[in-house]
Amino acid sequence: MVTDITVPYPGAYRAVVAGTGSFVPAQTLTNEDFTRMVDTSDEWITTRTGIKVRHIAGESETTATLAAEAARMALADADMKAADIELIIVATITPEMVFPSTACFVQHMLGAHNAWAFDLCAACSGFVYGVATAREFVVSGRYKNVLVIGAETLSKITDYEDRNSCVLFGDGAGAVVIQGSTQGPLGIVYSSSSSDGGGWTSLNCQAYGSRNPVSRPLNDPKKIFMTINGREVYQLAVRRIVEMVEECLDRCHLTIDDISMFIPHQMNARIIESVAKRINLRAERVFINIDKYGNTSAASIPIALDECCRQGKIKSGDIVLIVAFGAGLTWGATVIQF
Ligand code: ACO
Repeated sequence: MVTDITVPYPGAYRAVVAGTGSFVPAQTLTNEDFTRMVDTSDEWITTRTGIKVRHIAGESETTATLAAEAARMALADADMKAADIELIIVATITPEMVFPSTACFVQHMLGAHNAWAFDLCAACSGFVYGVATAREFVVSGRYKNVLVIGAETLSKITDYEDRNSCVLFGDGAGAVVIQGSTQGPLGIVYSSSSSDGGGWTSLNCQAYGSRNPVSRPLNDPKKIFMTINGREVYQLAVRRIVEMVEECLDRCHLTIDDISMFIPHQMNARIIESVAKRINLRAERVFINIDKYGNTSAASIPIALDECCRQGKIKSGDIVLIVAFGAGLTWGATVIQF
């Protein structure tokens, strides 16, 4: 076990991961299904992205229902009740509605009547931003138990006529309970968070907000869907993720060999493999499950983290590094000792 870790901004308490959970809809879309919808092939999608299947919300499933299912699992894993939670943060870019927040719907669904709740919009970096935010409330001693959820129904803003983007996305939710503690693992050791609003054109969904209100006809009806500049994002994502890993290792006085598990945002298997090569991380320490879910934006890291824990791939004392890059542009990384 690594014992010599620097905690750059220590507080009165440690913010530890007390439980994890995840949930995906039963309905799926396979690569084979896409060959009947757009001009594509299983071979193209598999070699260019690593994706085989994505889960798609059914008629009665919404971002909040997926989030609440994942949260129930995380609470059970932490052996806690909804009433124990004092704050709920839901990271999403596919909210239940314009307002109220998805987090308030989740609070009501869970019966978490002692919690306040808000949404966080940072696309694929949303969960990492959420964990960084939760940590500050917990290490200061303000709250003991915080629920952080990443949840998306990206299928609702996907253009299923655009082969460049439609094959990439899926729906799902993941959740963690962050708990204050004075002993045991160090928990969330360090977070690096960045934004560059100048890069908004690379990844966006332009309707309906105040720039393109629902009350006015759109100059382009496709603005209701996500648009991505995949090639541009690909290169930037690799560069920023490598920089963040180096920063985390440097600030915490760790080496790459100290990282037991690297859980990146599941954007593209080739991006992840390219990053792993550049940081000299062995394949068995890199978690990839994009084949089963596609890119689920804010949900991708907590789903992967939950799978990793349930598969016994994270042991007590292990150091896990989570990293994300997404629309905003936003990017963030967090070092966690379990
Ligand atoms: N099937 C077959 N051909 C396709 C498909 C498809 N589904 N999609 C694109 N192509 C074609 C393109 O039209 C292009 O053809 P052309 O050369 O005749 O013009 C060719 O394949 C190569 O296209 P590239 O864009 O160069 O392919 P690349 O290897 O870069 O892979 C991809 C594209 C998968 C999108 C990659 O760039 C990527 O993963 N980028 C990052 C994805 C991203 O932005 N994710 C964030 C989303 S935002 C969010 O998560 C909320």
